[in-house]
Amino acid sequence: MITESGYQGGENFDLRDVLLKGRSLRLADRTALFQDFLGQLRRNEENLCMRCLSSPADREVTVADPATGMTRTMVMFGSNNYLGLATHPVVLARAAKALDAFGAGLGGPPLLNGYTMLHRELEERLAALKGTEAAMIFSSGYGANVGLVSGLTGKADIILYDAYSHASFCDGMTLSGAQSFLFSHNDLAHLTTMLDRATGRPHGDLFVGVEGVYSMDGDLAPLDRILPLCRQYGAHLIMDDAHGMGVMGAHGRGTAEHFGLEGQIPVTMGTFSKTFTVTGGFVASSKAIIDYLRFFARSYMFSASLPPATVATVIAGLEVLEHEPERLTRLHENIAYASAGFRSLGFPVVSSSAILPLRVPEGMDIRKAARAFHDRGIFVNSVEYPAVPVSQQRFRVSVMATHTKEDIDRLLGAVAEIWSLFGYESKEHDDERRRRNAA
Ligand SMILES: Cc1ncc(COP(=O)(O)O)c(C=O)c1O
Repeated sequence: MITESGYQGGENFDLRDVLLKGRSLRLADRTALFQDFLGQLRRNEENLCMRCLSSPADREVTVADPATGMTRTMVMFGSNNYLGLATHPVVLARAAKALDAFGAGLGGPPLLNGYTMLHRELEERLAALKGTEAAMIFSSGYGANVGLVSGLTGKADIILYDAYSHASFCDGMTLSGAQSFLFSHNDLAHLTTMLDRATGRPHGDLFVGVEGVYSMDGDLAPLDRILPLCRQYGAHLIMDDAHGMGVMGAHGRGTAEHFGLEGQIPVTMGTFSKTFTVTGGFVASSKAIIDYLRFFARSYMFSASLPPATVATVIAGLEVLEHEPERLTRLHENIAYASAGFRSLGFPVVSSSAILPLRVPEGMDIRKAARAFHDRGIFVNSVEYPAVPVSQQRFRVSVMATHTKEDIDRLLGAVAEIWSLFGYESKEHDDERRRRNAA
C-alpha cells in the first residue's frame, strides 16, 4: 500500500503500478516496491529474466531454470546468432590468434592508445561492404547510436524518427537536444506531413531516423520510398541496420542491399551483437562525417575500444559470410519455413527478416505463456510492457541458419499447444500443415 508517508509493503503490483505509482516515491520506497514486485514474480515462477546459460548460444542451449536452479536443454529461439557464427571454428581460431597477438585488451579509447591494425582493417572492410568512404567502430551498438545522433545533431536541427525506433536512438536525441518528432511506424504519408511541417519552421539540418529491420516486429523500412522522400526534402537519412546485417540481401550485406540501394544511404549504423554475436557497433558514412564523429561522438571519444579479439571475430564473421553463402541460404529457407508455419497457425507473419513476432492476445497472460514455453524446452523472448504498449505484447522468435526443420516444427507445435491452453485455438488448416510437412 502507498500512503502519504510512502510505501508500506504487502500488496500485489503489476509492472504498470510499479512504474506509475513508484514515480512519486523516495528512492528507498521505490526500490522496496520493486523488490516486492520481483518477489511476487519469483513466487509465481514467472521471472524468466537473466536465465543463466552454461553453453554457447547455439540452436540447443543448456539453461538453469530460475525457479529450481536445475539445468535443462532447450531449443534456442531467442538469440540473434542468426548465421551460427558464435561457434564457427574460423571465428574461434581468429579470436584465439588475436588474443595471442594483442593480449586481452588495450586499456584505452581509440583516439589515444586503443587502436590496432585489426580495428583499422575492420573499419575498411565495413566501409567497403556498405559502399561508403569510411566507417568507425564503437564499443557497443547502443554507444554507436547515442554517439552518432548526439554527435551529428544539435539544438537547431530537426529529427523526424520512426515511432518504433530503438531506445539508443532516442537516448541520442535526448542528449543532443535536437527538436525531435516521431512519425507513425512506416507511415510515409505521416512522414511527408512532418517533413512539410519541418520545412515550414526555422531549423538547421533535417534528419530522418529509421531502422532497416525493426527490432520488435522484424518488418522493414520501405527504404526505396523513404530515401527519395529524404532527397526531395534535403533530409539526411540515418538507418540503424542492427538486424539487417548478415541477414538481408542476397549476400547478407544488409537492408540497403535488399532494396538495391547499396552505397546510397547517407549514414548507416550497425551492431556486432546480432549476426556477429559479440559486442560493438559501427557507423558507415562519408569520410567527412566519420572524421567529424571521431571527435564529436562522446561515446567514441570517452569510451575504451573493443578488445582486438572481438574485432577479429567480426572480421572472421565477414569472411564466413562471403565464403559460406550456404549459411545465408539456409537462414532464408528457415525464415520462409517458420513464417509459413506461423501463417498457417493464423499469425499474420509477413517478415523476410529473421525476427518473427507472435502477438499475444490482450487477455492472455504473457508471463504464464512464457513459462509454458520454458517448460516445453523452447527458449523465446517475451516483449512485455513497458517495452511495448500492453496491447502489443508479443513473443519475439529469432530464426537461425542452424535450426533444423524439426526444431521449427517443435516451436510451431508448442505455440499451437500453448495458445489452445489459454483458450485461443490456432487456425491451422490440415491442407496447410500437409503442404508444410511435404516441403
Ligand atoms: C535496432 C537496434 N539498435 C541498436 C541496438 C543496440 O545494440 P547493442 O546491443 O549492440 O548495443 C539494438 C540492440 O538491441 C537494436 O536492436
